[in-house]
Amino acid sequence: MSAAPEISDITIREINEFAEIRAVEELQKEAWGLPDLDVVPLTQLVAAKEAGGVLIGAFDGEMLVGFVYGFPSFERGELAHHSHMLAVKPAYRNYDLGRRLKLAQREHVIAQGIDLISWTYDPLQSLNAHFNFGKLGVLADRYFLNFYGEDAASFLHQTGTDRLWVSWLVSSERVKERISGISYSSPSNLGPPLVQVEADDSSRRNDFAEGLAQDHAVIEIPSNIDALPRETGLRWREDTRWAFTEALKAGYFVDAFVRETRGDKRIGKYILSRKKAQDD
Ligand SMILES: CC(C)(COP(=O)(O)OP(=O)(O)OC[C@H]1O[C@@H](n2cnc3c(N)ncnc32)[C@H](O)[C@@H]1OP(=O)(O)O)[C@@H](O)C(=O)NCCC(=O)NCCS
Repeated sequence: MSAAPEISDITIREINEFAEIRAVEELQKEAWGLPDLDVVPLTQLVAAKEAGGVLIGAFDGEMLVGFVYGFPSFERGELAHHSHMLAVKPAYRNYDLGRRLKLAQREHVIAQGIDLISWTYDPLQSLNAHFNFGKLGVLADRYFLNFYGEDAASFLHQTGTDRLWVSWLVSSERVKERISGISYSSPSNLGPPLVQVEADDSSRRNDFAEGLAQDHAVIEIPSNIDALPRETGLRWREDTRWAFTEALKAGYFVDAFVRETRGDKRIGKYILSRKKAQDD
C-alpha cells in the first residue's frame, strides 16, 4: 500500500506553465475516464485563462494532484463565473484539497468583482451533494434533463446526464457560514419525502400533494448510487428527476443536503424550501 500523502506540503496556486496545463488534461482522464475527444484541451484552457478564466492547481512538489477550472459567464444578465471542472487525484481525496481549491477559486473570483459562481453536478452523487451544499453552501433552482445528452462519457455516470445547476453566492452569509464550518440546521416541519430510500436501497415515490404540503420538501438519495444495480440506478434517476422537476415547478428551491443514519445505513436528504417573493 502506498503511504498517505504529506498534505501539509501541498500548495494551492495558479496554473501557468504549459507542462502543468498538459497535466490538467491527464488528470481529467484519470478523474472521469474521459476519451481524448471529451478532454478540455490546453488551447481552450490557455484562451479561457487569458479571457478572465480561472485555473488553479493543488501541487505535491511539482506534481499536479488536483485542479479547478472555470470561465466568466452571464446569468440573468449579470456577470458571473461558471466552474466547469473540479478534480482531485484519487489518492489525495478526503484531505480537504477539493474544498481548498474551491476557496481559492472563490477568492480569485471575488477579486474580479463577481458574486456568483455556478456549476452543475449529478444530484444522485451523494459525495458531491454533501461537498456542494454541506461544505460550500450552494443553492439550486434549475434541473436539466440529460444536460450533456443521453450518452454518459464518464464512468462516473451510468444513468444519463441529468444535472442540478447550483449557485454559489460567494459573498452571502449562507456561504460564509458553511465555509467556516457552521452546519445547516434542519427545520422541524419537514413533510414526508417525495422520494425515499427503501430498506433494499431502491427508491419509492410518495404522494406529490403531501410531499409539497409544507414550507419544506424532502428528496432522499442513497449513500452510494454507483454500488447499486443499473436497473435500480435508472429507477432512482426517473424518480428523482420527477421529484426535482415538480418541486422546482411548484416554487421550491434546493436549500440544503444533510446525511443521516437510518438503521444500519446512511442516507442523504435534499431539503427544499418554498421560495419567498424576494428570492426571485
Ligand atoms: C469531488 C472531489 C473533487 C472532492 O475532493 P476532495 O479533495 O476529496 O474533497 P474534500 O476532502 O475537501 O471533501 C470531501 C468530502 O466528501 C465526503 N465524502 C467522501 N466520500 C463520500 C461519500 N461516499 N458520500 C458522501 N460524502 C463523502 C468526505 O467525508 C468529505 O466531507 P467531510 O469533510 O465533511 O468529511 C473529488 O472527490 C473528485 O475529484 N471526484 C471526481 C470528480 C468530481 O466528481 N468532481 C466534482 C464534480 S461537482
